Amino acid sequence: MKLKNNTVYDCSVIDVSKIHNNAGNITVIENGHNIPFNVNRIYYLYDVPSGEARGGHAHYELEQFIVAASGSFDVILDDGLNRKRVSLNRPNLALHVVPGLWRELDNFSSGSICMVLASHAYDENDYIRDYSKFLKYRN
Ligand code: TYD
Repeated sequence: MKLKNNTVYDCSVIDVSKIHNNAGNITVIENGHNIPFNVNRIYYLYDVPSGEARGGHAHYELEQFIVAASGSFDVILDDGLNRKRVSLNRPNLALHVVPGLWRELDNFSSGSICMVLASHAYDENDYIRDYSKFLKYRN
């Protein structure tokens, strides 16, 4: 399979907006409305020990929205040439991650929840887990 040649600059933080009143906020993410792909899977990371990192892989096809549903963490994006660190700390902000990029997550605050909205079902064949292979396939 060919690895897409998207760059880190194709990823952006999208304010998916919120409905606010005196009793708090609601943020809605809805297919066909405020997300640029259809969501087929949602998963979330939590109870990540202090100092621990996650990710460390690329995807051939998977597109994602990454949201700090609680607390904060950083996402490091890497296209083989450029690296970009994005800090997420609000539930109404979603990092749109396009396919073909290496990503790592670190700097998790205590009690943080990393919610991921994903375009496809889980498929181990969609992963590249070896950074040197990632660099080779990108070039
Ligand atoms: P992985 O995607 O490598 O986690 P992270 O990038 O957060 O470090 O997945 C960790 C394990 O969980 C791996 O054995 C695959 C499994 N897994 C599923 O079975 N289904 C899923 O939807 C996800 C995201 C992971």
